[in-house]
Amino acid sequence: MEIYKTRKEATERINELKRQGKTVGFVPTMGALHEGHLSLMRCSKRDNDITAVSIFVNPTQFNDPKDLEHYPRMLDKDIEKLEAEKVDILFAPDEKEMYPEPDTRQFDFGHLDKILEGKHRPGHFNGVAQVVSKLFQVIPATRAYFGKKDYQQYLIIRELVHRYMPELDIEIIPCPIIREKDGLAMSSRNLLLSPEERKSAALISQVLFRARELSSTNTMTIEELKNFVIDTINQNPHLKVEYFEIADANTLLPIENWYEADKKIGLIAAYCGQIRLIDNVEFN
Ligand code: PAF
Repeated sequence: MEIYKTRKEATERINELKRQGKTVGFVPTMGALHEGHLSLMRCSKRDNDITAVSIFVNPTQFNDPKDLEHYPRMLDKDIEKLEAEKVDILFAPDEKEMYPEPDTRQFDFGHLDKILEGKHRPGHFNGVAQVVSKLFQVIPATRAYFGKKDYQQYLIIRELVHRYMPELDIEIIPCPIIREKDGLAMSSRNLLLSPEERKSAALISQVLFRARELSSTNTMTIEELKNFVIDTINQNPHLKVEYFEIADANTLLPIENWYEADKKIGLIAAYCGQIRLIDNVEFN
């Protein structure tokens, strides 16, 4: 695997490969790689000649300094996993390389960055847009891959390319959520859970799956289903729901009746102890 630490070298290499007519798939990550990340890399390898991955824990997207401080970092282990997956290129810059000076750009995504995660993590999506727009300049890929666990992030990044960098013409590909055996959505943050918390965390997805079953019976209003999800999860002493919303999956605007949208999605953020987890389920 080729490893680049500077933007200049990485871009030169990608452009050289593109000049040779190769398609490039790109998987941006913050490291602490798990099966969810690896599945994105496998999708990229399936679709493209070359797969490039970035590892950079982006400080501008953390609205909580403690969260940034505790975020797991394990570059050597990650490199072993990337080599086992036969990833072609790793871009692993340090903070100075990505932010030689502070990034003061403010992005506007309409309502999309002001609701759900955007409302509860002020500045988070602006930070994501800052780093992803820089990464896309460094690695002007043919396609870029994002997990649907961060569903709102996927929609924001699609909008980022559409509104702010259409000339790059990067296709944004959403990939399915990868789950542990008990249903917990894979996340680097799961590493921070105590064994007791880890057991409780599985309830989040289990209740979401139950909600999907209940929604298909047409016996509950949206309000009733939302209360069921929030109350059931909050009964567990380790868990506290921050929000659960049912929304139009295309716009993420909340809906009050099942017939208001064709594609519907339930999105949740919940604390498990001190660790904030997110998940979602698409309804039929
Ligand atoms: O989803 C993530 O891991 C991060 O938000 C991303 C897209 C790599 C930007 O830092």
